Amino acid sequence: MPAVVVDRLLQALAQAHKLVLLEDACQAHGARYRGRPVGTLAGDLGLGALSFYPTKNLGALGDGGAVLVNDPETAARLRQLRNGGQRDRYRHETEGWNSRLDELQAALLRVSLAHLVGWGERRRELRALYDGELRGSGVVPLAEQAYAQAVVHLYVVRHPRRDALQQALAQRGIGTLIHYPIPLHLQPAFAALGGKPGDLPIAEQASNEILSLPLYPELDDATVRKVADAVRSAARAC
Ligand SMILES: Cc1ncc(COP(=O)(O)O)c(C=O)c1O
Repeated sequence: MPAVVVDRLLQALAQAHKLVLLEDACQAHGARYRGRPVGTLAGDLGLGALSFYPTKNLGALGDGGAVLVNDPETAARLRQLRNGGQRDRYRHETEGWNSRLDELQAALLRVSLAHLVGWGERRRELRALYDGELRGSGVVPLAEQAYAQAVVHLYVVRHPRRDALQQALAQRGIGTLIHYPIPLHLQPAFAALGGKPGDLPIAEQASNEILSLPLYPELDDATVRKVADAVRSAARAC
C-alpha cells in the first residue's frame, strides 16, 4: 500500500469541502515532514502557526508567535487583524485584535533565530544519548519515523505506570511534565461536541502513559546520564 502523505490528503479534503487548513507547528520550528518544512504543510492557501512562548525551540522572553502564509491576500488580512483591524493608521476597516509582536521580543527572536539550527542539532544529540541510556530500561521513547526530521522539542517516554514513575523521579529530585494529560475530545472546552472516554482509545492511552523528561539545548551529557540512571532505577521499582 502506498504511504499516506498526510499533508496532501488534508489539503485535498480542505479544498473539496472549502475549508481553510491550519497547521499547528508550535513545537516544531525547523522540523521536516517528507522533506518539507513544517509550518508550510497546509499548502499555499493554508496557514501554519509557530509559537515563540519562552519554552519553545525558538522562544521569546514573553508571549509571541507567527503565522506562516504563502498567499499575499491572506498575509495582508492577518496584518490588518493583528493590528486592531487597521490597514491605515486609526482607520479600522474591520474588528481585529492587538496581536502585534512586541519590538523587544522581535529583536531577541531575531538574534536567537541564528541559533535555531544549532539548538535543534543539540536537541537531536541529547535525544540520541537518552535513547542509548534508556535502552532496556522499561520506558519506551518516542521513535522518529523514517519520513520525518524532528527537532525534539520534548523528550517523551511512555510507561504503563506513568504516574508512579513521575512520583518516583520527583523523589529523586527530577522534574518531569506531561504534554498533555487531557486529550482534545475530553477537554471541558469541547464538551458540547459530546466526546467521552473510550471514543479515542489510542489518544487516551497515550495521555495516560506519556512523560516528558528534561531536555533543552544547554543540558549537558552528564546530567542526561544522571537522569537516565534515575529513570532506570525508578522504572524498575514501579
Ligand atoms: C502544540 C501547541 N500548539 C499551540 C500552543 C500554544 O502556543 P502559545 O502559548 O504561544 O499560544 C502550544 C503551547 O504550548 C503547543 O504546544
